[in-house]
Amino acid sequence: MKVLVIGSGGREHAICWALNKSKKVDKIYCSPGNAGTDKIAINANIDVLNFSNLEKFIKKERIDLVIVGPEKPLVNGIVDFLEKRKIKVFGPNKYSSQLEGSKTFTKKICDKYNIPTAKFKIIKNKNNLSKILKTFSLPMVVKADGLAAGKGVYICYHEKDLRIAIDEIFKGKFGLAKKVLVEEFLDGEEMSFFIISDGKTFKVFGTAQDHKKVGEGDIGPNTGGMGSYSPSRLENKILEKKILKKIIRPTLKALKDKNNKFKGFLYAGLMIVKGEPYLIEYNVRMGDPECQTILPRLKTDFFEIINSCINSNLAKINIKWSDKKSLCIVLCAKGYPGNYKSLVNIKKLKKILLKKNEFIFHAGTKIKSSDIISNGGRVLNFTALSESFKLSRDSAIKLIKKLNWKNGFFRKDIGFRVINK
Ligand code: AMP
Ligand code: GLY
Repeated sequence: MKVLVIGSGGREHAICWALNKSKKVDKIYCSPGNAGTDKIAINANIDVLNFSNLEKFIKKERIDLVIVGPEKPLVNGIVDFLEKRKIKVFGPNKYSSQLEGSKTFTKKICDKYNIPTAKFKIIKNKNNLSKILKTFSLPMVVKADGLAAGKGVYICYHEKDLRIAIDEIFKGKFGLAKKVLVEEFLDGEEMSFFIISDGKTFKVFGTAQDHKKVGEGDIGPNTGGMGSYSPSRLENKILEKKILKKIIRPTLKALKDKNNKFKGFLYAGLMIVKGEPYLIEYNVRMGDPECQTILPRLKTDFFEIINSCINSNLAKINIKWSDKKSLCIVLCAKGYPGNYKSLVNIKKLKKILLKKNEFIFHAGTKIKSSDIISNGGRVLNFTALSESFKLSRDSAIKLIKKLNWKNGFFRKDIGFRVINK
């Protein structure tokens, strides 16, 4: 089988790596890919939003199956586009992708189907602020409605911050904004909960915890993700049952009621408050960097799982997981998530030798005349699997120190909630 993975991050490198282990996969392509995918796949430098160029490439190379990594092509309807042209593709269609693309779409479903989530108000202009102040008490959370790569969210502790947040969003900091979402602050612990679905049935696809803030101790601005670990410490059967009953099943039903199936990964960003799950947001894909910690724990052939979704027989697959603790640290370019230097040589990378259960998944990297250079804010993902989160973190840090990349920085405290000092 020939498989094309769309995307260029650490998640896509991890997906290529998992596919590469399958005997059923003969050839992997990645578009646009990075210096890491280049080693195991054929990189094709096609814009992920240029669907007709992707189609031409898929037909020319006679690719059997396409897996879509990031949200943008999904939200723009790549699945509908390819399926119309009889190309097999794993990922949700445009309608279902609104779960991530539009926060108001998801909130309306929560309202109608009684899915626990933060109480919210949608505001259409800044003059509505006084009403909001009467509805909720501070802190409040302000969100841009569309995709903002995890950055369009403000936690506001003072009225002044609330005004700034609403103002910035309406002024277009995260793209054209006609609506702003204001919601109550949920005080609890976050958990990333994943399912995979073939449209008929679904299976749980692991849990993880990511660290979105740039600074140690989870402080500072939000990023795409500075590190993660899997499983989440909150994972247990009672909670899982509640999540499926109160959140996942009603959401899938809501889509079905509109004659829509969900095929792909669904990632529920949850807040667990006193043992009860609340939905913060949906993503219609694997998380990044959560994927880089979950896939190394997967014991079942990844391709077979994906292929069973394409053939609507996921029910027949038994997904098995390793009990090991997986932890990933993201090495970023100094200055990220603000301004940073790109195209900096990562000299020692080729010399780093990995032991069993150690992985380096590339994110913002590319090859320039046989050198590996940086090509983005989040550059490399160091993942290790072991008997304990502490040992996994130690291994990841050791590897980063060996690399000693002067243009980089990373959080040394990934997993602090599950690691006793
Ligand atoms: P989102 O992009 O909606 O996932 O939000 C980004 C981050 O903001 C989340 O991972 C949470 O840490 C935080 N957050 C979002 N909504 C809330 C909420 N209602 N209460 C508390 N924290 C929140
Ligand atoms: N790790 C957060 C995300 O993938 O959106």
